[in-house]
Amino acid sequence: MPTIKINDVAVSVNPGTLVLDACRQVGIDIPHYCYHPALTPVATCRMCLVDIKGQPKLATSCTTTVPPAPKDNPEAVVMEVFTNTPAVADARAGVMEFLLINHPLDCPICDQAGECKLQDYSYNYGSGDSRMEETKRRYRYEDLGAKIVIDKNRCIHCTRCVRFTREISGGGELTVANRGSRLEVTTYAGKTMDQNPFAGNVVDLCPVGALTSRDFRFRKRVWYLKSVPSISRYSALGNPVWLDHEGNRVHRLRPRPLEGKETTLFISDQERAAYEVYNREDLAPAPSLRGAPASSDAIAEALRAAGPVAVVGQGTFGCDAAQRLGDLAAAEDLRYGSGDRTFPVVLPRFQTTSDGIVNRRGFAERGYRFGALGELLAKVQAGAVMAVVVLHDADFSSAEETALLGQILQAASFSLALEVAPSALGRAATACLPITSAAEESDFIVNHDGDLRRYSKALQAPKGVRTVPAWVKDLAAVPALA
Ligand code: SF4
Ligand code: FES
Repeated sequence: MPTIKINDVAVSVNPGTLVLDACRQVGIDIPHYCYHPALTPVATCRMCLVDIKGQPKLATSCTTTVPPAPKDNPEAVVMEVFTNTPAVADARAGVMEFLLINHPLDCPICDQAGECKLQDYSYNYGSGDSRMEETKRRYRYEDLGAKIVIDKNRCIHCTRCVRFTREISGGGELTVANRGSRLEVTTYAGKTMDQNPFAGNVVDLCPVGALTSRDFRFRKRVWYLKSVPSISRYSALGNPVWLDHEGNRVHRLRPRPLEGKETTLFISDQERAAYEVYNREDLAPAPSLRGAPASSDAIAEALRAAGPVAVVGQGTFGCDAAQRLGDLAAAEDLRYGSGDRTFPVVLPRFQTTSDGIVNRRGFAERGYRFGALGELLAKVQAGAVMAVVVLHDADFSSAEETALLGQILQAASFSLALEVAPSALGRAATACLPITSAAEESDFIVNHDGDLRRYSKALQAPKGVRTVPAWVKDLAAVPALA
């Protein structure tokens, strides 16, 4: 591997590595706007300039690559880079001044404030003054459909959003129109971003708050939000996300890219919008037995008296929940898996499966058999299984699967449903116990590719709502089930 020196620190990197990435490897973060690891480099913003020994002008580190070492001297230093010279500092201050020429000082009402690269770099590298005396260019904000709003006054023309729609999502809805100070990012005539199922990613990609989410716009100042690592539950990939919450409510979900995992760079709009399910609007249900409020002891007693127990675990819950629920089954082969939701694959590069059951693999590893509910129904009807415990989320079962589960509950002499929000199926069970949502507990899943992904508790569950392991501990305390 060739060696390069960055501010006199030697580092060995693969030939072809971008200088910007090599700098990161030694802990030097180069300011940048237009660079993004998933997009073609275009070097339009000029913010990432560095000094390379022997080159007459500063070079853009997002497009300059490390050359291979000479064959006869593989240890040779092939490049010397300086990121802290007066020329680099001057260039950064100059670029910031240019970028801010037409940028409005509307940080107090801008959604990006607090996580804005213009704010950060202006503070770190800007001159602190403006020589702009002319009137700034003005546009009125525009809706790019129902999901995205553009405020062109803020745009610095990095073209990340345009390249995303061309290179990643493929619709090419966005383009750059006009020239010079009239340059503007816009949609082709008559187009919106509504047809783009990944449109929300342009908001994350925009470094300056020009593209905003209709849903999140003016809703929260980001510095009030606490970010908790979580996962998206809407695909078997279990994409890592940041769950941003405040006041015991989730306000948004954002991708949480993992190093070296390209599929974690973007999430679909459906996954992004799923935060709403975590915000409880109704009072949490109380434990019930035959339609009346009941203690967990009474439910455990009724379960014990019923006879051999089978469990049905929907693969959308965590592995701890799967493990503990499985302990209730009278035999190892009485663990059944449920959940048959799929989603359309529109970006095969990022959506490597259409399976919508996030922890199918984790449940299978714990002995749950998927696609065998018909067998369970036969056992219940034959009296070999008398009681059924169902861990269920109505969002992830088709009408056919829900109907089959309904038949199983009806045929069993005792049934217990564990649900976050009561569904028609849960209400048909003999007993119900309210459980925590994924935002109210910490657990982990094993995704479609076999990766272990953890998610952490962000919200406080209502009083009386407990995790699956906590309920199962109570139920299993009854001797016959222990
Ligand atoms: S709207 Fe944002 S992402 Fe798009 S070109 Fe302008 S600054 Fe870049
Ligand atoms: S990040 Fe290199 S020129 Fe924009």
